[in-house]
Amino acid sequence: MYIKDLSGFEGQEVTLKGWVANRRDSKGLVFINLRDGSGVCQCIADATKISENDFECAGKLGLESAVEITGTVVKDERQIGGFEVHVSKLNVYQYAEEYPIAKKEHGIEFLMDKRHLWLRSQRQWAILRIRNTIIYSIHQFFQKEGFVQMDAPVFTGNACEGTTNLFETDFYGDPAYLSQSGQLYGEAMAMAFGKIYTFGPTFRAEKSKTRRHLSEFWMIEPEMAFFDIHQNMDLIESFLQYVIKEVLDKCQNELQLIDRNTDILKTSLKPFPRLTYDEAVAIIKGEKDVNGVNSIKSLEEELAKVEAAITTTIAEIADREAKIAVPGMKKGEINFNQNKIATLKNDLKELEEQQRNIPTWIASAKNFEYGNDLGGSDETVITRLFDVPIMVYDWPHEVKAFYLKRNPDNPRFARGVDVLAPEGYGEIVGGGERETDEMKLREKITEHELPMEAFEWYLDLRKYGSVPHAGFGLGLERLVTWLCQLKHVRESIPFPRMYGRLLP
Ligand code: 4AD
Ligand code: MG
Repeated sequence: MYIKDLSGFEGQEVTLKGWVANRRDSKGLVFINLRDGSGVCQCIADATKISENDFECAGKLGLESAVEITGTVVKDERQIGGFEVHVSKLNVYQYAEEYPIAKKEHGIEFLMDKRHLWLRSQRQWAILRIRNTIIYSIHQFFQKEGFVQMDAPVFTGNACEGTTNLFETDFYGDPAYLSQSGQLYGEAMAMAFGKIYTFGPTFRAEKSKTRRHLSEFWMIEPEMAFFDIHQNMDLIESFLQYVIKEVLDKCQNELQLIDRNTDILKTSLKPFPRLTYDEAVAIIKGEKDVNGVNSIKSLEEELAKVEAAITTTIAEIADREAKIAVPGMKKGEINFNQNKIATLKNDLKELEEQQRNIPTWIASAKNFEYGNDLGGSDETVITRLFDVPIMVYDWPHEVKAFYLKRNPDNPRFARGVDVLAPEGYGEIVGGGERETDEMKLREKITEHELPMEAFEWYLDLRKYGSVPHAGFGLGLERLVTWLCQLKHVRESIPFPRMYGRLLP
């Protein structure tokens, strides 16, 4: 019996097993918020209706104590799931020790150290259930489209995405690298199965602490024989929209729990603008407007708004602090004001962060040098202007991976495509059409100073029935982070691995 199914048992006696998410006592009553992994439900123990012993046990339950509760399911509109349980019997598995995660605000490092427990909190529960829906819908989409799921190895002998962020390990005395991408293997499998996708862990030694980078993340990499760059972009769009629709359909409750405004997810169901690199750069530098909005001007306006908000927030904090300093205020009112002050201080922190960030975005947009890759701040500058993901394709070949095909009409450009998520989230997908010519690939491998012998098997694919083909890689955690509107990618995966974090 699970809490999510209570609605089918109104008036009946059920037995639930779970953990105490909250307890509140009032004359002759104990209110227990029971959490069982499927949901949360209020259970009421009434001293006049259960044994003295059970009532005493109920009153001793601390946070996260584990119990079995038997009781009657009663409809109550005010409750989260619409039902509560009137307890008739109670069995304690364990009285938990004092739980380290309290209601009050904890610092992020503390919560990360306690990640194994933090997972139990409602917000984390909601995020990771959305992640689960995303994973399931990814498989559904590709299976329905006739793709075969194939697995690429994790130990590899070559670098797929360049040598700067490889994790080296010892493979029976020889160096091996943890896979940065399953793509090269995906290409081999696509030549055998037509349309395939891999879904596996990938590793990047990113020695910097950003809100977007993990050292270990999960990547979905479809690869399709006989697809060109445009068909690839069509597929990316329908794929992402399928996943977004599923999340909107299946995760209403979770989205609400994390306060996700879903407007932008709904607008993301319209076509994704497809911009060439040249067009994207012109927009970033403010040389080209988007629907009458100029990137630089709109940032300057935003900065002015942020600064005004900082002034009013500081004034309100001071005002409330002065109020509670006056003797005679009721305890409840003091508490109310203190909570308000804490929230305002948090808002202030965020505003001040924006006050620091926006000028750096403006500067990097103004100084963007044509020919460079887009950095995180450039992505933020351009995605702010759209209410839907955008696709940027045809990149200067020097900044992209060795395996990309050149645009036949203009070989300065490689046929790569990046998908940039709105709301400042930036790159969630990278992909493109692949070079089919063996000699051109050999040139690129040499140019990138990669060891030719490790790629001989890959070059074989260009000798035996080489055909146009394309594919892409979606970073699962980047998608979860955007769909859940998280501030940092670390909350999008149960146990993040990143620079400076290996435990728990
Ligand atoms: O753009 P990337 O490096 O592309 C590839 O690896 C291609 N071989 C994929 C392909 O065409 N089959 O990585 C793809 C995506 C990025 O767009 C991003 O979403 C995610 O993987 N990603 C990361 N996510 C979290 N932490 C990191 N350090 C990431 N690096 C890339
Ligand atoms: Mg990329």
